[in-house]
Amino acid sequence: MDVVRLDRVGKTYAGAEVSLRGTKLEWKGPALWARNAVRGLRLTSVNVPPVRALHDVSFALAPGEIFGLVGPNGSGKTTLIKLIAGLIRPTTGSGMVAGVPLTHPAAIRRSVSYVSTTGWMGLEWPLTAEENVRFFAALCGMDGALAGARAAEALRAVGLWEDRDKYPSQLSNGMRQRVILARALLFHTPLVLLDEPTVGLDPANARAVIDLIRGPLRERGQTIVLSDHQSAEIERVADRIAVLRAGELARLGTPGALRAELADVMVIEAHTEEMDPPRAPAPAVVLATEYVDRPGALGLRAWRVHTWKSPDALQQVLDWLTQPTGRVVRLAEHAPSLRDVLTLPPEVIAARRAGAAASALAGSAPPEGAAVEGAAVEEAAS
Ligand SMILES: Nc1ncnc2c1ncn2[C@@H]1O[C@H](COP(=O)(O)OP(=O)(O)OP(=O)(O)O)[C@@H](O)[C@H]1O
Ligand SMILES: [Mg+2]
Repeated sequence: MDVVRLDRVGKTYAGAEVSLRGTKLEWKGPALWARNAVRGLRLTSVNVPPVRALHDVSFALAPGEIFGLVGPNGSGKTTLIKLIAGLIRPTTGSGMVAGVPLTHPAAIRRSVSYVSTTGWMGLEWPLTAEENVRFFAALCGMDGALAGARAAEALRAVGLWEDRDKYPSQLSNGMRQRVILARALLFHTPLVLLDEPTVGLDPANARAVIDLIRGPLRERGQTIVLSDHQSAEIERVADRIAVLRAGELARLGTPGALRAELADVMVIEAHTEEMDPPRAPAPAVVLATEYVDRPGALGLRAWRVHTWKSPDALQQVLDWLTQPTGRVVRLAEHAPSLRDVLTLPPEVIAARRAGAAASALAGSAPPEGAAVEGAAVEEAAS
């Protein structure tokens, strides 16, 4: 039987009146009083329209499966995890979690472990790491002896046994995060939900958390849903990956299957120094481009260009990028990673494929231009 089954689930957060107090810092004293008098309630409240956080999401998870959720900020990952955890109810659609319908969230909560490494699941500062884990076990009704044994097991699993007597103030951010994760290991529930378990961890600790998920959690046969911004980490651990975009399930498949969607695409990376971006439209072989301006005296710009696989794509991109002034200081070509699968909008590929097919019929070149051409992306994304 499926551990999770969602059928056309949607979630719309109701609109709200949100206080603006504290945000209009420039209004003080008599000026604020006068403005209040003039505007009445409108100064301190504003109407927030309803937000459609999830739309028409359907999938099923088999027992023991590790399911990764990726998508940009605000795409609905946390909402989906909370919905499966029984913390919020869907607005539309139906589904079952651990044999319980979504309409009975309280019963669902008994079958899941939920960990959010961001937000409100904080630690008690007067308690040590071990006491925090045991306290959480007690809160959830676990008896003392079992709690002691499970807390020790969990702290060993997250590599914190040596540090168990430290207080949260004496632990690094990564260690505190692992204490929170240890709480999720206390219960051998059928389903474990981890919202961004590796966010903010250095590569070694992120790897340790992923190994923990792949190892002990999987061996127990628990079904795991985890979200992450970092596709590289999800790729290492997930059996299947769902890509959310603006609340919709844009893609779903094994990492291999998702990568295979881009089998005829390649990625060209180029760095330029003191060189203007090209004015000419991108050659037809180019699907999408993005660049990041790196701070520094040399005016370094890092390009990432997606092209159709073709023997002369590299040369065409080089010719296109090269301008009379400045230099191209690096040029490399590689196969798309999962990150490319996630960042390249499926519409771009579909549209280009359709365009290429149509123009092949008409005997001409595919259409010019690229959907995300010239988009300056965040430095952090590189
Ligand atoms: N309690 C809430 N009330 C109103 N709107 C909400 C609430 N929680 C989330 N939203 C909205 O729902 C949308 C999806 O948010 P959600 O937190 O699920 O995204 P996310 O993919 O987890 O993003 P992030 O990567 O930033 O964690 C966003 O537009 C957000 O503003
Ligand atoms: Mg989130």
